Amino acid sequence: MANPNDIAVTNGTLHNPKNQHRKRQSTDCVKNGISKEAQQNRKAHVEDKPIFEPYPEPPLYVFVLTYMGYGIGILFGYLRDFMRKWGLEKCNAAIEREEQKDFVQLYQDFENFYTRNLYMRIRDSWSHTACSSPEPYFSILEKVTDDYNWTFRHTGKVIENVINMASYNYLGLAVKYDESMEKVKDTLEKYGVGVASTRNEMGTLDVHKELEDLMAKFLNVEAAMAFGMGFATNSTNIPIFVGKGCLILSDELNHASVILGARLSGAVIRPFKHNNVENLEKLLREAIISGQPRTGRAWKKILILVEGIYSMEGSIVNLPQIVALKKKYKAYLYIDEAHSIGCTGPTGRGIRELFGLDPDDIDIYMGTFTKSFAASGGYIAGKKELVDYVRMKSHSSAYATSMSPVIAAQIIRSLRITMGYDGDYGGMQRIQKLRENIKYFRRRLMEMGFIVYGDDFSPVVPVLLYMPAKVSAFGRILLKKKIGVVVVGFPATSLPEGRARFSISSAHTREMLDAVLEVVDKVGDLLNVKYFPLKKSGHSILYNKESFDNEASFEEMCSEPEA
Ligand SMILES: Cc1ncc(COP(=O)(O)O)c(C=O)c1O
Repeated sequence: MANPNDIAVTNGTLHNPKNQHRKRQSTDCVKNGISKEAQQNRKAHVEDKPIFEPYPEPPLYVFVLTYMGYGIGILFGYLRDFMRKWGLEKCNAAIEREEQKDFVQLYQDFENFYTRNLYMRIRDSWSHTACSSPEPYFSILEKVTDDYNWTFRHTGKVIENVINMASYNYLGLAVKYDESMEKVKDTLEKYGVGVASTRNEMGTLDVHKELEDLMAKFLNVEAAMAFGMGFATNSTNIPIFVGKGCLILSDELNHASVILGARLSGAVIRPFKHNNVENLEKLLREAIISGQPRTGRAWKKILILVEGIYSMEGSIVNLPQIVALKKKYKAYLYIDEAHSIGCTGPTGRGIRELFGLDPDDIDIYMGTFTKSFAASGGYIAGKKELVDYVRMKSHSSAYATSMSPVIAAQIIRSLRITMGYDGDYGGMQRIQKLRENIKYFRRRLMEMGFIVYGDDFSPVVPVLLYMPAKVSAFGRILLKKKIGVVVVGFPATSLPEGRARFSISSAHTREMLDAVLEVVDKVGDLLNVKYFPLKKSGHSILYNKESFDNEASFEEMCSEPEA
């Protein structure tokens, strides 16, 4: 993680870190990366404390045991593969057919080995089938295995009233049909579900136009274009911004859709360390000094790709400093706000608003409608000429069917609630409640002694468990206690950093969070995964309910919504 004290930014300009440290103490420090406009409107929402702190690390023995666990698993894996080869054990995994053995391998060797021998042991903690809307209590189909996790079958039993800590329903807008969705129903009656054409042919509907205008207004930019799938918004649009002769500097933890888009573009890709502005600046300098490989010509374009909130880490992009760098080195900035749009910033307008930066500081805004907005699809937004170019050039507008009008109507409903236009459904209150829930949940976990990654502004709260057996046991025990949580391990994280990811929603009540925390506290002791020895019991000395409730409320911290 980058340390913010190393390089600092005032109004988008890089400064000597030492001077900057002194500035932090003075009243000027609120200017840190925040535009004049935002300061005047008191829109800035960065608290005094630095938000880019290094994460705590567990004791060394945790890494030793984790690697030993993998080592033993791998040894047994080779032994079992050997037995399978000689017919001493049945192989249930996919294998190449005999007549294809001269083909290029279909399955990648290590990944296949890992899935067959390690992941298969703990697979029951993944891929549950839900059978209700992703509300705070949801239902899951019970599954069992008769062959040690090779296959599963549903028993027909429904596990009901599971507390949902696993869905990206950050603002609680993903619910069963209610009166807030009347216009969605009207749209269904008027248009049906399918569009049966692409945006560039007969697939642009008035409801798309309404959605795009509203989204542009929400983001405070000139224009926006909506796409039917968030993943494809990245993978099909990044290639229209850069190509041969261009350079992409991409955060090493960017989402697979960003990586795919970067690869499809044909540009040279250089990853930089996660959120590390020093490393990014080093790459920018090198790129400008050395130019393109072999020819030494200047790069046609340099595009920096980042996310607003990183979904595995819960970390927030160091936007002020990255904006300063892109200005200094005349690069372009593309930000994927899948996890931050709608739920971050005083009025949910995302990371730019959180830092109080100018709309023009970001060249290309990307986001999805799948999380806070309880629908599906994605958007690209920014200057009108940029969005016009996307309309003409995007593979998704020329070759893919456009977004269903029902989905567009659902996004409009969610946006209107968030923007306070449909006041009865509590847009601002949802954002405020989410923020309070995140803070509360994170603090309680940290005080119990868990290592928690991420930031107080991130609705994704990763709790580090490290050893894969513990990762799986954690998910299994929580589900037995009727708590649904996503557990994650290699290859989605680095080898030793297995974790559980709690997704917080504004729809969670304090009682629900307390119920979860009580169980997590006990499971943490049982599995011995409280590695951060602040406090060994859940009854915290650092935290008490009153002290949290007495803190400045969200409303006090932020100003009126933007018009
Ligand atoms: C950062 C990021 N970008 C893009 C996507 C893809 O979006 P979608 O799931 O809406 O297709 C995701 C999915 O979770 C994501 O986390």
